[in-house]
Amino acid sequence: MSDADRVRIAAVCGAMSRESRTRTALSVALEGASEFEVETRLIELYDYDLVILGSVAPEDYPPDVSRFRQEVEGAHGILVATPEYYGSLTGALKNALDLIGADALRGKIVGLIGVAGGDTGAINSLNTMRIICRNLHCWALPQEVSIANSSSAISEDGAISDQALHERLLEIGRNVARFTILQQRVRQEEFMQLWEGLPRW
Ligand SMILES: Cc1cc2nc3c(=O)[nH]c(=O)nc-3n(C[C@H](O)[C@H](O)[C@H](O)COP(=O)(O)O)c2cc1C
Repeated sequence: MSDADRVRIAAVCGAMSRESRTRTALSVALEGASEFEVETRLIELYDYDLVILGSVAPEDYPPDVSRFRQEVEGAHGILVATPEYYGSLTGALKNALDLIGADALRGKIVGLIGVAGGDTGAINSLNTMRIICRNLHCWALPQEVSIANSSSAISEDGAISDQALHERLLEIGRNVARFTILQQRVRQEEFMQLWEGLPRW
């Protein structure tokens, strides 16, 4: 298989902090994806000099904006994880998704993970990300992972002692890989024609 044919899975981490439990969770999911014959890549927002969408004319964007966009666009399947911030995804992740835009994500398989400090978990972030995915025209898998009580669920050194949670994270990564591989096997053109024929918002 040539590099061009290889299925690529990117994982976008919505946390800006370097010590992040969200990143730990996402890395486990990426490990699940890598059980398949796919190329995986962890994308950290702090590695890119991004701008707030609308604050700068596109011709004045720093080169990192297109580097970031290309790296996401180059992936066939995506994992997205966010910390829950006041009942939603982080502003940094929302802005990053705005910058990426629908053209780069349309038709792609997406797996969603949310990480919250409180008891109720990250359901609100996950629901909001699902709405965003719908508007970006991507396929959010019905399965998702909501992590509650993040500081006890994921230790400071990155250990996840709850085996069921660890397995759920591996499985969402595996499913993104499985469904992306299946999707890539269908002729891309045919898939896009079917997809484009669906009603728009
Ligand atoms: C600005 C801010 C807002 C937060 N809002 C919530 C919240 O609404 N619900 C909740 O359960 N936890 C909330 N938390 C806790 C985080 O979700 C939790 O600490 C999570 O692990 C952060 O992700 P990280 O470890 O990847 O940085 C908030 C934390 C911050 C910094």
